[in-house]
Amino acid sequence: MINSFIFNIFGGTGDLAKKKLLPALYNLYKKDMLPENFKVISIGRRNYTKNQYVNFLMEDTKFSSRDKQLDDFLEKITYYEMNFDDSSKYKDLDVLNKKLGEEIKGDNRVFYFATPPSYFEVISNNLSMYYKNNQKNHQRVLIEKPFGSDLKSAEYFNEQLEKAFDKNDIYRIDHYLGKEMIQNILTMRFTNQLFRNNWSKDSIDNIKIAISENIGVEERINYYDSVGALRDMVQNHLLQILSFLTLERPFEITTESLKKEKLNILKNLKTFTPDSIRSDVVFGQYDGYPVKSETETYVALKTEILTDKWKGVPIYLMTGKHMSEKKAEVLITFKKDTSKDCFFNNDNVENNLLAFKIQPTEGVYLRINSKVPGNNDVSTVSLDYCQTCNTNYSSPEAYEKLLFDCLNRDKTLFASWEEIKYSWTFIDSITKSCESRRKALLKYPRGVEDIKESTKLIGGGKWFLD
Ligand SMILES: NC(=O)c1ccc[n+]([C@@H]2O[C@H](COP(=O)([O-])OP(=O)(O)OC[C@H]3O[C@@H](n4cnc5c(N)ncnc54)[C@H](OP(=O)(O)O)[C@@H]3O)[C@@H](O)[C@H]2O)c1
Repeated sequence: MINSFIFNIFGGTGDLAKKKLLPALYNLYKKDMLPENFKVISIGRRNYTKNQYVNFLMEDTKFSSRDKQLDDFLEKITYYEMNFDDSSKYKDLDVLNKKLGEEIKGDNRVFYFATPPSYFEVISNNLSMYYKNNQKNHQRVLIEKPFGSDLKSAEYFNEQLEKAFDKNDIYRIDHYLGKEMIQNILTMRFTNQLFRNNWSKDSIDNIKIAISENIGVEERINYYDSVGALRDMVQNHLLQILSFLTLERPFEITTESLKKEKLNILKNLKTFTPDSIRSDVVFGQYDGYPVKSETETYVALKTEILTDKWKGVPIYLMTGKHMSEKKAEVLITFKKDTSKDCFFNNDNVENNLLAFKIQPTEGVYLRINSKVPGNNDVSTVSLDYCQTCNTNYSSPEAYEKLLFDCLNRDKTLFASWEEIKYSWTFIDSITKSCESRRKALLKYPRGVEDIKESTKLIGGGKWFLD
């Protein structure tokens, strides 16, 4: 385990820092998963004293009960006031890091870019001047989404980043990968013989990955309106989940081999043509969207993976705001056993279903066919495991896992540049096509379960189990 570090958060007064990053660090601290020697520098432009900053953090319920342990944690935080555009402040920040480094007898520095993306470049350019003076392998740079807004801008930003920092020190965050049930996809696939030989087009009929939210864009409107659901959710979270679901089992499971296999999936995703945009993409916008614009708050699409193993298996992705519930789920439908056998009454045989329930509850669901007691009829029964229903258990927050892994230089759950590159190639095939601009943006009422056209796209039925 890392023996000391200084955690710099650019955007220390932001929503992410307050609600996710600092609570995640605190949880790791409480669980004894951090070394004793660490410091946090929260960087913001507000004119806060340390006390004012602590009061600001305490507004959040995750920090609501003050005790000795929390006081000790808060003691480790320094608030540093600066405007990201002010180059002179980076030198003082470096001095502060050195001073704290002497206190903790170490020089591992982590820099988290929890800022609007428009500042990513200016921060990395300024930081690079001090970064180069430091020892290799002692720094880490964590970048939040969005990583660009299309392939071109992502390439440009990546070039800047890789000019400024060593490739090995760059960690591109996709917080969905820190979620328990996403990690469980690989565990389930690779530890159950039951699935191993049934994980291909021979046995799987279709795959659905859906993430719905029951709120709208709220105060993120300025950012969201220039992005939309496809770039905000599909380019990163949904495609990352898809690659975990479908990657080939490497001969030996290592970070590098998994990344290679993930990349192979993203490279082989079927991109869109004007025809397939017309038939296989649905865009929607909820009623009462705060500004007049063509930005989609809902997208559903159908694609496939053009490898021998997966070709022909429809893959459906959906995400939307202001829908009936906040939910994220992966639903795998296996092919139906259509063999006729007089011994069983096969009329009621159904497809096997396997679901990974990601949120709000976490669990795994499996539907199988079974004998009806007392006769030879068949009906479905389900094995439904709910991990979060056990009141003694609460899953670690996604950011806990990711921060811990980054501190310990484990990149398995971080997106590589190549993965991001192919994800944008896929998204650009939709957004750069004139057909997308011609396509109707369907208005939907708030609180809907689904949009009619999208239900049609998946051939009827539902995106979620229930
Ligand atoms: N919030 C989430 O749960 C979440 C989830 C996934 C990804 N992200 C990504 O994480 C990043 C941060 O999100 P957020 O929700 O925390 O945004 P946010 O609430 O708007 O916070 C942005 C932070 O940057 C600071 N800032 C902005 N301009 C500055 C400047 N010129 N100089 C100094 N400080 C400046 C803000 O200071 P003020 O407080 O003074 O404005 C604030 O601390 C974004 O890229 C977002 O896409 C966020």
